Amino acid sequence: MNAGIIEWECPSNIALIKYWGKKSGQTPANPSLSFTLSNCISKVKVEYEYDPSGMLSPEYEFDNLPGLFKQKITDYLLEITPIMPFLQHLRLKISSYNTFPHSAGIASSASSFGALALAICSIKEEITGSEIDQHSFFRTASYLARLGSGSACRSVYGGYVMWGFHDKIPGSEDEAALPLQEIGPPFMSLRDSILVVSSMTKPVSSSKGHELMKTNPFGSARISQAVSNMKQILDAIRSDNLNEFFRVIEEEALTLHAMMMTSSPGYILLLPGTLEILEKIREFRSKSGLAMGFTLDAGPNVHLIYPQSVETEIKQFIADRLIQHCENNLVIHDRVGTGPVRKI
Ligand code: DP6
Repeated sequence: MNAGIIEWECPSNIALIKYWGKKSGQTPANPSLSFTLSNCISKVKVEYEYDPSGMLSPEYEFDNLPGLFKQKITDYLLEITPIMPFLQHLRLKISSYNTFPHSAGIASSASSFGALALAICSIKEEITGSEIDQHSFFRTASYLARLGSGSACRSVYGGYVMWGFHDKIPGSEDEAALPLQEIGPPFMSLRDSILVVSSMTKPVSSSKGHELMKTNPFGSARISQAVSNMKQILDAIRSDNLNEFFRVIEEEALTLHAMMMTSSPGYILLLPGTLEILEKIREFRSKSGLAMGFTLDAGPNVHLIYPQSVETEIKQFIADRLIQHCENNLVIHDRVGTGPVRKI
């Protein structure tokens, strides 16, 4: 095939055990675990055409804004060309859209690199005319997505996904993610209500944050904690222990921000509204006895996680007590999703 159009939709993911700090070659300092979302999606369409002059100079459009991220995508394609050499003989037109608002402060790199990596794997299949098995297809997509953004390697699978070698988890590796099988119904039903405290661009990027972990005096203790928390959260999931699950994810969220505060220079991404929300969640949980917990990304927004069985009560709690801390009252209701879908 000399020309074609491919489109993939890939969801974002929320980390429960946080990837924070890198080893060389865009590999993680510690293993991480996330669940893939359902509604926060990037749609990436790639039109390709054989071009014997071998010029890799893609056209790129993000949410109808042609200049945005073009350089980042061009650099990424150049970086992966030694692994996918057919790219140098293609003319590419890439357009990318997110279903979630720009102003939500939700990083779209996981979903957009996930979708782009999947599209590149589909192009390879089309131009070589040989279908590869599902396992190899998705592992290659995860490997390629990782080179764009670490957390993106987890987004090419649905459900619960881990990334990074763990000596107790067969099949885990630093180069690509591993989807976890046989997760019980309470965990597959989890909701994630994203309380958008601020949509401002972060003063310190995640890339810089990962870099600062190299000199963080608590860095090695953090790596040991993540390895141990990974084992504990998987035990909690396997034994249907939601309370233990919430204990671990909150510890991970608070440690992530503690690492930022104890970096040199230290920095704070939490805002007063974030702290108010966390306090109210813990207070409401202890009064109501309802199953719920929070996690945080590298930013001020709070992800309130809870099972479907308490959805009505928690949505009421959000409306009564939490929405007042959200910018423009913005809350995005999402849930564990089934993973990317090829549309064209
Ligand atoms: C806090 O994947 O955005 O969300 O690999 O430099 O692109 P790069 O970093 P990125 O870092 C994500 C950090 C995190 C935790 C996580 O998703 O595991």
